[in-house]
Amino acid sequence: TTLVKNLYRETEKFTGKEVQVSGWIRTVRDSKTFGFIELNDGSFFKNVQIVFDEKLDNFKEITKLSVSSSIVVNGVLELTPQAKQPFEIKATKIEIHGTSSPDFPLQKKKHSFEYLRTIAHLRPRSNTFSAVFRVRSVAAYAIHKFFQERGFVYVHTPIITGSDCEGAGEMFRVTTLDLNDVPRTEEGKVDTSKDFFGKETNLTVSGQLNGEAYALALRNIYTFGPTFRAENSHTARHAAEFWMIEPEMAFAELEDYMDIAEEMVKYIITYVMENCPEEMEFFNTFIEPNLFDKLNNVANSDFARITYTEAVEILKKSGVEFQYPVEWGIDLQTEHERYITEQVFKKPVFVTNYPKDIKAFYMRLNDDGKTVAAADLLVPGIGEIIGGSQREERLDVLESRINEMGLKKEDYWWYLELRKYGGTKHAGYGLGFERILMYLTGMTNIRDVIPFPRTAGTAEF
Ligand code: 4AD
Ligand code: MG
Repeated sequence: TTLVKNLYRETEKFTGKEVQVSGWIRTVRDSKTFGFIELNDGSFFKNVQIVFDEKLDNFKEITKLSVSSSIVVNGVLELTPQAKQPFEIKATKIEIHGTSSPDFPLQKKKHSFEYLRTIAHLRPRSNTFSAVFRVRSVAAYAIHKFFQERGFVYVHTPIITGSDCEGAGEMFRVTTLDLNDVPRTEEGKVDTSKDFFGKETNLTVSGQLNGEAYALALRNIYTFGPTFRAENSHTARHAAEFWMIEPEMAFAELEDYMDIAEEMVKYIITYVMENCPEEMEFFNTFIEPNLFDKLNNVANSDFARITYTEAVEILKKSGVEFQYPVEWGIDLQTEHERYITEQVFKKPVFVTNYPKDIKAFYMRLNDDGKTVAAADLLVPGIGEIIGGSQREERLDVLESRINEMGLKKEDYWWYLELRKYGGTKHAGYGLGFERILMYLTGMTNIRDVIPFPRTAGTAEF
């Protein structure tokens, strides 16, 4: 069997030759003596056209096939310079592998993305979703390629962990305890020492702390894996299970993180545009008008870099009445982030040096004693796609930050030891994989860029 992708990429080689293709029927049209099939074989975004006629002994059967039936076709590839498609296959034999029930839900008419989410097992057979998931795969490859080319070591950090990286308590508990018969301590608390791991464990919210341990040994590392947050926010940008890329670099500062993150974002855009031309063309036409202009602009411009304090000034001077009033110290809300990226800069913006009280304990305290060496990358249309910082390498400062934030020093003993044994300045960041996919494709809901989304209240499939 030849993949349809190869027929398109090397049409000349196959012209006039006998080929075999296999796939799922998108449409069948027929008149009395001949017919056309649009076939998608899953290897390529575009369909291949099959022409068949009554000389085939199963002609009648073929004309009755419904959408999504699977077939194997033998035939000759012929160029069709006059037609919409560059070539077609004149069938000499069509073998029916699986018929499809006529109630197959993805008929030609356009369905809403909301509806398609209820058939997550079938939606990859639609144009939009086959394009999204092909781009997801290529973007993942681009990210590995980017870091591997620069000598970063891919580290697999644990999914089950006893620490809370963000200190925000948004964790899914992992337990083997019988919820109907939980062992109790004398004080009546749940006795987690009887649990499988002998302590309270959860699904990781971030691989960063483990990543730091490896950066302080292997220098430049990155993680790329699933992370979990039990935040009950019903937004189009939050999922309970999402994938994160977390590079960590020893002997690096905040500026180094921003430089490599900017280079990475541009690299991913360029790589996907070059390697998924058909899919990107589709998104540009049907999903986000001017997607190409946006992405080309991002790939060729310098990202803006402003401090949190400057951002607050810009927002205050804007004269806009925000729903959430702006003053120094607040966490920037989506409306603020969008104003800054969409109205002021019209391109990606790094916002740096946030107030320490709204950021995680591990971020390096600046000399002003009020802000930390953090940076978020905000992009038009989405908001935050990256969060990162220089890490606090001074043991005493880190310990007092842990205290200040009401966390327990004992829980972080090994993380603190990284400062005790040859600590050095280091920095890193987390890129939300689904967020950058939304940015690349123009899809506006995170549920539509992850194959089987997990959000509050939905874990079907
Ligand atoms: O800003 P966050 O929480 O940062 C961290 O977890 C750091 N430990 C990263 C690091 O420095 N190594 O998350 C990083 C990114 C966000 O910018 C966002 O793109 C994405 O992860 N993200 C989510 N994506 C989808 N659904 C959610 N619930 C997300 N929460 C964060
Ligand atoms: Mg963040």
